[in-house]
Formats: sequence, structure tokens, C-alpha cells
Amino acid sequence: MSMTYLGKAVSRVDGPAKVTGAARYAGEFPVPELTYGVVVSSTIARGKITRIDSAAALGVPGVVQVFTHENRPHTAYLNRSWRDEVAPPGAPFRPLYDAEIHFSAQPVALVVAEDFETARYAASLVRVEYEQGPHTTDLERERGTAYVPPKKRNGIAPPPDPRGNAVEALAAAPRKIARQYVSPFEHHNPMEPFATTVLWQDAGRLTVFDKTQGVQNVQSYITSVFGLKAANVQVISPFVGGAFGSGLRPQYQVFLAVMAATELERSVRVTLTRQQMFSFSYRPNTIQAISLGARPDGKLLALTHEAIGNTSQHEDYQETVVNWSGLLYGAENASFIYKLVKTDWASPADMRAPGATLGVFAIETAIDELAYELSLDPLALRLANYTERDENDGKPFTSKELRACYQQGAERFGWSKRNPAPRSMTEGRELIGWGMATGAWEALHMKAAARATLRAGPMLEVASATADIGTGTYTIMAQIAAETLGVPIEAVSVKLGDSSLPKSPIEGGSWTAASIGAAVQAACETVRGKLFKLARGLENSPLANADIEHVEFADGTIRLPGDPSRSVPIDRALAAAGTEALEAEETVGPGLISSRRFSRNTHSAVFAEVRVDEELGIARVTRVVNAVAAGRILNLKTGGSQVMGGVVMGIGMALHEETMPDHALGRFMNHNLAEYHIPVHADIPAAIEVIFVEEHDPEVSPLGVKGLGEIGIVGTAAAIGNAIYHATGKRVRDLPITIDKLL
Ligand code: MOS
Repeated sequence: MSMTYLGKAVSRVDGPAKVTGAARYAGEFPVPELTYGVVVSSTIARGKITRIDSAAALGVPGVVQVFTHENRPHTAYLNRSWRDEVAPPGAPFRPLYDAEIHFSAQPVALVVAEDFETARYAASLVRVEYEQGPHTTDLERERGTAYVPPKKRNGIAPPPDPRGNAVEALAAAPRKIARQYVSPFEHHNPMEPFATTVLWQDAGRLTVFDKTQGVQNVQSYITSVFGLKAANVQVISPFVGGAFGSGLRPQYQVFLAVMAATELERSVRVTLTRQQMFSFSYRPNTIQAISLGARPDGKLLALTHEAIGNTSQHEDYQETVVNWSGLLYGAENASFIYKLVKTDWASPADMRAPGATLGVFAIETAIDELAYELSLDPLALRLANYTERDENDGKPFTSKELRACYQQGAERFGWSKRNPAPRSMTEGRELIGWGMATGAWEALHMKAAARATLRAGPMLEVASATADIGTGTYTIMAQIAAETLGVPIEAVSVKLGDSSLPKSPIEGGSWTAASIGAAVQAACETVRGKLFKLARGLENSPLANADIEHVEFADGTIRLPGDPSRSVPIDRALAAAGTEALEAEETVGPGLISSRRFSRNTHSAVFAEVRVDEELGIARVTRVVNAVAAGRILNLKTGGSQVMGGVVMGIGMALHEETMPDHALGRFMNHNLAEYHIPVHADIPAAIEVIFVEEHDPEVSPLGVKGLGEIGIVGTAAAIGNAIYHATGKRVRDLPITIDKLL
């Protein structure tokens, strides 16, 4: 295969559509005779609606209907057993199901009007009376009620088995630390709010434009909840303005818009407000305890990691928090506990590297603390405990170039010039700190399908029902297709985000590049085979005696390398055969044996520099180097941007992000982007350097790809916290590290 596009810094193929505004988002699709739904949210966290009065709202000219639990159609929830692809065990939240209130800002009514302003005004007139119940929203106060979830969540590894006797080993260890770390609620806050536009057509056919990471997941949600036929429901989501995991599950505006459309037999759009975006989907609040016992030379003897996370009353939301400690460090004695506490909040949701961001923050801070305890360099301590196997189950990795990440990251950062003593590096009135941490994430390959269609031109279309949430899926699909069939990337069109396209899992877990990539390549290879047969079969074909292993597909031709006379243009092959299009659809899944034999992970080493002005309590991140080993990198530009974006989100996690609950009200208070702080440009250093460490891994997925969407955030907050300790001598163990905690 001639290497034209793969591994290069190819610009986004969807870039022009995005910057010119041609890309349409769920709340923007023009639909004739559209009505607008506005959601009314509950003001209490727990209790019952005793009275709901829509009369005033219904009296406003232009209001079409007000839906509440009292008049919602009975056609909804026909199938009470629906579960979406990522639902944790429990009972999924059902909007407008009954009078019960399960969390603050739960949707209690939908006002539908001929225009948005009328709907919004009328929504303010809906009167709701409640019988308030006692709510519990405080994880710290409720930690005594923590329980081990009785049912495991699909796809989430339970904590690893204990090794040796951690309690005894800790007691006997010559050096030890025991620490507690706390992480706050965080909300995903993608730029684009959740929105659903339902185009209602005759005969009950629905076209649903939704903001989602899984069009087919939303389609099956709609068909099972409303008892509709799959053939009558098409879900479309070509562009997603960020999601970070909040779009993995169908959100409540999907239900409300489809309910209103089917009941009114009208097209309906429901867009959530920024404040309503805070009523569901968040990274859980956690408390983690870590104990480490070690020899003076740094060898770990004992490790315990316990995490408690909050969940809702109705679902046991689970993520993988404590396993990362066991994966990374080979203490002979170790124990791992993961528990949940039920709270009167909506269910948490996967948020970029769910579980790993939290667990790795804790272990990588604790390792740093142990390094100071032992007077060892934090990097040397990690190397002293480096493992070649997944210590949780003894399996080898398909590949693990973490050592090279440490080495290349340290070299680029200049780690060897670090003065180990806290408060030892200053410039002007600023303290300078250098910290580092390890990152790890999963490298999954999921079963997925893609279709390739080659036409004269040549023009090539590749299609799959997957999503591009800003990650670069369009671009890598185009690169792989162009590369495999030897056509310019400009000749490739990519279709995705449409439930009628070949089957794809939700876009998540950083598995899309590996999984959809493999399917696109397989479909294109099948087309390649068909095309070669046509070319060879031409009368007096220049390729008459050639076989497919020896030809190359390049510049829109099939040719023998080094012999320009033996070449057939794609167009000629198609025309001569009288074939309008060559098409193939292929499904590629993971190798089962390899899944069982190997652990599959990405790794990284993050190095951060901070400058702290102690008088003001302000910490700035001034430099980050993130060295990542993620198998083959398909696109240096979009891949580099994924890691950089992860680092930015990690800076937010370390210094800014925190959704603040008022436990008296059971309600999030800073539910807007003015008071929920995310990093802005001024918070982000010009120098975020991403190093892709070479990692050859034919085992992990057909393309050798591991995925990059999530690894960039993992470890970043710990590296920054460790740098702040190095700068100031102050260890902040509850995130985010804000001014008040530093002063
Ligand atoms: Mo990711 S949290 O699987 O979108």
C-alpha cells in the first residue's frame, strides 16, 4: 500500500462545512410548519407533584399543547423493558411517567407552541405544586450507606481480585502513606446543547434530528419506548457540537420531542437550555482512599485503593475507578474496593475517560506523595515499579510503550533539570513547579460495519452509522478509503450519523477509529478486489497476468509499480465492464481469542509546569508535555488535537471545573457557563506538546490503532496537582485546586 494519507497531518474534511456554517446541528435543521417545545423543570429534588395547572399556559395564543404526566400519551412506554446501549443496571428515568420527582430540575411538563418565544413564555405560566420529600444529595454525609453494586454494568470491569494480604503488608511496610482524595461533580458542558427536531410525516413516519453519539441507539430507544417500527424511524446526526460522553444515552428531550410529534401529528423541536444541561449527565462525585506501603528503595509492597461514587436512586451507574492502580503497579499485596452511594440526583454519565480520570488522579497523586516520603524522584519511583504485564490478571499487553513515554516525555520536558525540593524553583515572585503523572485508558475494538461505493470519476463514498463528535471520524474514514483505493481524498465522500447506514456501536470509549476504521478498510478492500478483477478482465488488459498482491492502487489507477505502461484507470475499468458502481459492505469484529489472552491499553506520561503567585493564590499551567503510546496514529493533526483537547480538559479538572451543590435545596447552583468554570484561552499555555511514541501493535486491531479520544485527559490533573505541590509544598487533595485552597 502506498502511504499517501495515513499517519499524515490531514486537515479535517468536514472543516469547511463547520467554519462556513453549512454543517447543520440537531436544533437547526429547517423543517416546515415546525412547533417548538419548551421544558418545565422541577424546583424540588424529591417528592411528588400534587397539582399541575396548565390552564394559563394553554390560554396563550399560539400554544398548541401542554404535556404533563397527567395527559402524556399512553402509547409511550409500551415496552417497559427498554434499555439503551449504555444503560447501567436499574430503571432508566422515564420523563413525565408519573407524579414522582427523582431529582432537581427533572422535566415535569413540555409546552408546545407555534413559535419558540410563545412556548418559552407559556412555560413560565405552568403552575406546579409539590409535596416535598426529604432528599439526600451529600456523598460525604451518606458515605456510611455505600454498597457494592449487586449487578455489574455491562462493559465495566469490576474491581480486580485482591492479591496477597494488603492489611498485613501495610502494617509491616517500613514506609507508608494513607491519603484521601475527593473529586467534585463535573458536567460535560459541550458547546452545543441537547436538541431534537422531529420531522413528522404522513403515515407516522418520523425523521429525528438528534444530538447524539449513537443514532441507532436512539432509534432503538424510540422504537421500543413508543412501539414504532424501525422502518418508520430514521435518526440523523451528521454533526455534534461536542459531547464528551453526554450524548451516549438518549436524553430526555428525545422522548419529549417524539412524544409531542406523534401525539400532535406535527413536527416538533425541543432544545434544552444551558441550565437544563445541568439536570442530567455528569461525572460523579467521588471519595477515594489510597494506602501505599514500600521499601525505602521504592519497591511497592502493598497497595489499597477504595473509591465511593454517587449514583441516582434508580440506577447503579458504574465506572472503572480503582482498577487502574492495579493495572499500573505490581504490588504483591493489594486490595480494591468500589462502592456506590444512592443520592437524589439524576444518574451520572460517562464523561471523557470515565473512571480513569478519577482513579488515575488518585493513584498518581499518591505515588507522587510516596516519592516525597521516600525522597525519590517521582519518575524513578514509577520506573522502580514498572510492570510488563497487566498486574490485575497477569495478562500480557498487546503492547505497552509506557517506558518510552516516560523517557521521551522527560527528555522533551527537561525533567532531569528539576530540583526535587518543593519551593526550590522561583522566578520573580512566582514559584515554579514541575510535576508528572502516568495515564492509561482502554484500547477497544468493537464490531462495526461500513459500506464503500466506487463510481466513475473516480468517486468513492464510505458510510457507517457512527458519529463524529469533533474527534475526526469523517477525516480518518476518508483517509483510509482514499489510501486503500488509491484515489485522492477529495474524491471521497463520507456519510455517517444516520441510522439507515451500516450498523455501528455508539461512538465512545475511544474505540471508533480502530473499529470503524477496520470496517472501512475491509469494505474498500472488497471493492478493490472487485475492481482488480474488472481491470484484469479487460480486453488486452495491461494487467492480464498480474495478481492483486503485486499491483498498486494509486492516482486513480491500478498499475504495476515501476511499469507505467501496465496501468488501468479506475474509470476505464468501470466503463468497459458497463458497471455503474462497485459496492461492498463489510462487518469487522474483534478477534475473540486475542481479547481473552491480552490486555489492551493506551498509556501516557504527562509532564506539567505551573507557576504560582502565592500572594494571589493563582496557579497557572505554563507548559505541558504529553507523551502518548496509542498504537498507530492515523492522523497527526486530528489525533494531536484529541490529546491536546484532553489536556485542556485535564487542566479544567485540576483547576476549574466543579458543579456546586446546595444540599439544603438538593440543587446545583452554578448551572451556567458564567459560574461553572471551564478553562478559557488565557488559562491554557501556548506550549502543549503532544508526542506520539512509536508503538507497533498488529494485535490490538486490524489497523494497529488504539484510539486517542480519552487518553489525553487521564493523568493530566495529577501531573498539575503534583506540580503545584512541587511549587508550593502544599498538597491539595480535593479538586479543583482553587485559590481559596492555595492561600
Ligand atoms: Mo466517551 S465518555 O465513551 O464518549
